[in-house]
Amino acid sequence: MKLNIAVLAGDGIGPEIVEQALNVTKAVCAKFGHELTYKHAITGATAIDQVGEPYPAETHELCMQSDAVLFGAIGDPKFDNDPTAKVRPEQGLLQMRKQLGLYANIRPVETFSSLIHKSPLRKELVDGANFVCIRELTGGIYFGEKGRKDDGNTAFDNCVYTRDEVERILKLGYEYAGKRNKKLTVVDKANVLESSRLWRQVAQEMAPKYPDITTEYMFVDNAAMQIIKWPKHFDVMVTENMFGDILTDEASVITGSLGLLPSASIGIHTSVFEPIHGSYPQAAGKNIANPLATILSAAMMFEYAFNLMDEGKIIREAVEKSIEANVVTEDIAEGSKPYSTSDVGEWIVNYIKNK
Ligand code: IPM
Ligand code: MN
Repeated sequence: MKLNIAVLAGDGIGPEIVEQALNVTKAVCAKFGHELTYKHAITGATAIDQVGEPYPAETHELCMQSDAVLFGAIGDPKFDNDPTAKVRPEQGLLQMRKQLGLYANIRPVETFSSLIHKSPLRKELVDGANFVCIRELTGGIYFGEKGRKDDGNTAFDNCVYTRDEVERILKLGYEYAGKRNKKLTVVDKANVLESSRLWRQVAQEMAPKYPDITTEYMFVDNAAMQIIKWPKHFDVMVTENMFGDILTDEASVITGSLGLLPSASIGIHTSVFEPIHGSYPQAAGKNIANPLATILSAAMMFEYAFNLMDEGKIIREAVEKSIEANVVTEDIAEGSKPYSTSDVGEWIVNYIKNK
């Protein structure tokens, strides 16, 4: 098969982790006889520095022409600490999501049994926890009207959802739940927010169409607590943009490290595969960041963008073996000397080659 991908490494540790994921992608293509072509493009702070905008038209053009996008991370502290900056790296990510129509961000939360001891939760709570968070990605407070008034002393961000936006993401939630354990948890704040009441209303209308699936409604504050208290409660969770952002960072650490969770953003145009963590600027250039979330995002790319399941599987297996062999970066290494980003990547590439 021909695989034509765009590589957007971004900022901070982005280039290092994406390099490893790309090497793994190449190894898998070589093994299975796929023809891989790829092109790099700039985004984030890197793009702002070079051309003054975080998601240049050429980058978008490349994404549109590709079958999939492998994405690193964006963000730079020099913008975080400047609330008055007019252009921000994050706008690049949001523009990409909007322009590619990526309305669904799929974030699987899976635990590795060999890493359970790194979880802040007790073993019996987290061992076997396995759920998927489906985060709405192109609506809500991220994209509503925002601004300042009263000479800059009043600020607002509107949270807006249309019925169509809610319906399409809930539909995906139901389809997912149908393929898994048939339980959908709709997370909202319907006791306070009008937009959440629309979510709940639409979900209540749709639920009867999926009689084999149990629909459960949960307020977001309660959901934040339940993720810690009993993560095995969840099968598929569906929620709006910002709730999903927050809950998935929370969910990621119960697996032992934020450096492990991949994601797929899917929708109307080319799908994007990216780790859920950020650009970790403190580690940039040091070859210490954990590449596993990005490598696992490449696994999702094979599965979601190309329907190549065995290819995804071998990557997951290699990742699992690398953890078992203790070939891990400093965020999860214990007792033993940590391996570098590239060591971990090379180990995984070799495992795939020799398999
Ligand atoms: C994520 C990130 C982004 C988000 C930032 C970098 C804009 O936190 O992908 O979860 O908030 O969506
Ligand atoms: Mn986030």
